[in-house]
Amino acid sequence: MTDLHFPRPELAHRIADDLVGASLLSDARNGLFLAQARRTGKSWFLQRDLKPALEAKGWIVLYVDLWKDTKRDPASLISDVIETAFAEHLGWVTKASKRMGIEKLGLGGASVNLAQTLDFATLTLADALSELHQRSKKKIALLIDEAQHALTSEAGEAAMTALKSARDQMNAGTEPSLLLVMSGSHQDKLMRLTNSPAAPFWGSRVELLEPLGEAYVDWCADLLEAELSALKPLDRAALYRAFAEFGHRPQFFMTAFKDAIRDSQSERGRQGEATGWGQRISTDVLARAAKRQQTDREGFAATYVQLDPLEQAVLWRLLSEGVQFRAYDVAAMAFYKERIGKATTATTVQRKLEALREKNPPLLWKSQRGEYSPYDQSLQDWYNFEKNRGAWPPAAS
Ligand SMILES: Nc1ncnc2c1ncn2[C@@H]1O[C@H](COP(=O)(O)OP(=O)(O)OP(=O)(O)O)[C@@H](O)[C@H]1O
Ligand SMILES: [Mg+2]
Repeated sequence: MTDLHFPRPELAHRIADDLVGASLLSDARNGLFLAQARRTGKSWFLQRDLKPALEAKGWIVLYVDLWKDTKRDPASLISDVIETAFAEHLGWVTKASKRMGIEKLGLGGASVNLAQTLDFATLTLADALSELHQRSKKKIALLIDEAQHALTSEAGEAAMTALKSARDQMNAGTEPSLLLVMSGSHQDKLMRLTNSPAAPFWGSRVELLEPLGEAYVDWCADLLEAELSALKPLDRAALYRAFAEFGHRPQFFMTAFKDAIRDSQSERGRQGEATGWGQRISTDVLARAAKRQQTDREGFAATYVQLDPLEQAVLWRLLSEGVQFRAYDVAAMAFYKERIGKATTATTVQRKLEALREKNPPLLWKSQRGEYSPYDQSLQDWYNFEKNRGAWPPAAS
């Protein structure tokens, strides 16, 4: 069941239309930046919904995940998919496909062009993309998943700058020929690509990818009711709430469903075809969602209270300041002093920032340019939640 895909063609077509610049108000031809929390279905959406929608418009669509191999330079990961596209769309046998063996690829025929005129090792990303466009006579969409990862290394930054210049060259005419879609699980991190003159995509905006919602829950509920007719009717309203409380994450929701059904089997065995089974399952799924939220919050609080006082103060400052966070400015230093009861030095603060990055799991993320963000958006969400209900900071229990 979890391998089944709930399609979102309307959203995909809307984004595809936007990208092609059908609307004057849309800035997507400069690059589209889509953020949403972890495990909410971003990668599936890019690959299973957006890719086909753009392909249906006649575009060549390349998908690359910069987290696939964090040891590799993002530029080489991107270059790999471009190289593969030469093979797929032009029948070119490039270095990569030669390595795999021409025969195995079934490209041994006379019509094959050997990519001798292009050396992918030295070709710039901009040139490779523009060659692909000119030779295929097709427009190209490059979908970059976990794009914020490019900001953690110099090579990654350089790759993003190269893509920016490719975009500027290829979209100078009336019709754009290179569309860039970048996605990531962290809005703040993704914003680092767009929010300052030094950022490669300065001027572009990060948008939130619409998460899965009630239509997805209905789709799941219909499938489950079809599979187990005794579940009919499930309480949709309770399930919508549960899905939202699970942070719109399909896996958590489906696991809760499976667990609720499994745990109720014995009870049902005793009572036979008890009425109201679907209702009880729905209520149970909702209870599991609330419990999970509670456990997650307790987990964050436990991590926080175990930090030393200055680590806590630094993290607190970051969570309260967001992208405005400056680790060592006068206000920050005063804040730390107030929290720990004595003055501290920039060097000590820097050591704490490093310590927070090295926790397992890490609490902080640092870009190549020295900007910090919480490692995981859910840490920020937890802070916002506790702050809003007046329960910040968490007390040691
Ligand atoms: N449209 C969908 N229909 C059904 N299940 C889905 C759908 N989208 C996502 N899922 C489920 O959610 C899981 C997570 O999806 P996906 O990997 O796309 O999320 P993500 O946001 O890219 O996560 P991460 O932040 O870890 O990269 C999938 O493995 C799948 O089980
Ligand atoms: Mg993903």
